[in-house]
Amino acid sequence: MFITFEGLDFCGKSTQVQLLEKYLIDKGENVIVIREPGGTAISEKIRDILLDKNNSEMRFETEALLFAASRSQLVNEKIIPALSKNYFVLSDRFHDSSIAYQAYGRGLSLNFVTDLQKFAIKEAIPLVTFFIDIPIDEVVRRMSKVKKVELDRIESSRVDFYERVRSGYLEIASKEKRIKIINGMLSIEDLHQLIKSEIEK
Ligand code: TYD
Repeated sequence: MFITFEGLDFCGKSTQVQLLEKYLIDKGENVIVIREPGGTAISEKIRDILLDKNNSEMRFETEALLFAASRSQLVNEKIIPALSKNYFVLSDRFHDSSIAYQAYGRGLSLNFVTDLQKFAIKEAIPLVTFFIDIPIDEVVRRMSKVKKVELDRIESSRVDFYERVRSGYLEIASKEKRIKIINGMLSIEDLHQLIKSEIEK
């Protein structure tokens, strides 16, 4: 079963990925967890280029292609082999991030970014995707607790960018049944219960 987690930065998805991983392992399931961008040696190198704040001249087109390149490597090297061995694959972000951030957020063509995802992920389409939704002022509040030097290139974006990314996610979720919108303002435990009950279903 392939499960992905999506949301704005600081929405708490990484915590939920870890909790679900523990829950599944305790049940005796085989699980692999990956994070995007990254997850393979090559993809981690691409991640460093993508998130490096010194790369301020990076074009949005380059950004979209690098995310897709990293994802393609991950799909072929890790995700498809794990799914064929009946593992649970949990991914902290996947192709919906590119549609929300690069198409809706950056303003690149939605058709182009969508086709690029099809090329990169092939048949590795998530069965269920949790979009952990938090309002923008909550992103700003949580971000203000992090030192500015610790923010990566994309996290250093402006508030209106995050507004567009959030509307993008809501738009994709309205079209795709696999995407479950969950309220990221709930407690960590309540979110975990909700996610568990969806998986059990
Ligand atoms: P993030 O999940 O924030 O990594 P970490 O939790 O380790 O900080 O992802 C890094 C950034 O990359 C984040 O701001 C979202 C962005 N991103 C895209 O713009 N497009 C994509 O396709 C992906 C996977 C991430």
